[in-house]
Amino acid sequence: MLGRAWLSLPVVDGPAPLGLSRRECDLLDPDSVAGVIGDDTRLVINCAAYTDVDGAERNEAAATAVNGTAVGELAVRCREAGATLVHYSTDYVFDGAATEPYRVDQPRRPLNAYGLSKALGEELIEASGVDHLIVRTSWLYAAHGSNFVRTIARLCQERDELRVVADQRGRPTSALTLADATRRLLESGARGVRHVCDSGECTWRELAGAVASRLNPSCIVHPCTTAEFPRPARRPAYSVLDLSLTEREIGPLPAWRDALERILNEINETAGEPA
Ligand SMILES: NC(=O)c1ccc[n+]([C@@H]2O[C@H](COP(=O)([O-])OP(=O)(O)OC[C@H]3O[C@@H](n4cnc5c(N)ncnc54)[C@H](OP(=O)(O)O)[C@@H]3O)[C@@H](O)[C@H]2O)c1
Repeated sequence: MLGRAWLSLPVVDGPAPLGLSRRECDLLDPDSVAGVIGDDTRLVINCAAYTDVDGAERNEAAATAVNGTAVGELAVRCREAGATLVHYSTDYVFDGAATEPYRVDQPRRPLNAYGLSKALGEELIEASGVDHLIVRTSWLYAAHGSNFVRTIARLCQERDELRVVADQRGRPTSALTLADATRRLLESGARGVRHVCDSGECTWRELAGAVASRLNPSCIVHPCTTAEFPRPARRPAYSVLDLSLTEREIGPLPAWRDALERILNEINETAGEPA
């Protein structure tokens, strides 16, 4: 999702970014990484990750290899080449026990294997000495790819009622917001860890309700609890990321309902096309 969002940004200054698929650059293959990061590479934006949160519980080694070890090796390669590394991380590096938004400098305390693997990636980048920007985000979605908004957009048109968890709070984020805000952070010279999400906060049920009310208002979205809908990976109950540092540097981030409206329009326009 995020890689496509980056490639959809208009090119303003300098060369257009080169988008690489896993076939062209496999993070698990150091030769393939070394082959694409040359001494003339100035900037590497790593949108790749093992993103199956529940799958990571069964397959922790695979998640750790991609999100942890390989990210550390990528950081070393970037440092050697003199390139800046932009890397993405997640609200799931926190345990969700907080009652106010997580600041960038709060200690990492992941609850699940995916969060552990992403926290390791952050730590290895920091230890590598590479010039870097780590951008944590949450509840990412786009008009394409596999994500919650697209799932609800389909289900609310097939069913009259849905049940969605209402005891997890977070910040939905359009992949377009994330790519655009990262670019503006880079332009502002930001380094270290930043948080980028659409602004405001909601529960999954509120997000699903906003999708349904736009696409099929007769579909009723009922609240349910996490306990009623068990999943292999534990999720943080409260994973609202604090945006104040980012907003001081690049100005206000879009409200999540506005960003959602834009993506729902795109989903409607591209209905029937492959993901
Ligand atoms: N999705 C969310 O809700 C969410 C929330 C917080 C943070 N994030 C973070 O945001 C970033 C972008 O996530 P996303 O949702 O846009 O991801 P995504 O749509 O799941 O795409 C991940 C991409 O990584 C590629 N990939 C996986 N293993 C690879 C490897 N060994 N070498 C090279 N490429 C590999 C995948 O390739 P294939 O298509 O070939 O599998 C896929 O294209 C990630 O760092 C993720 O952890 C996501």
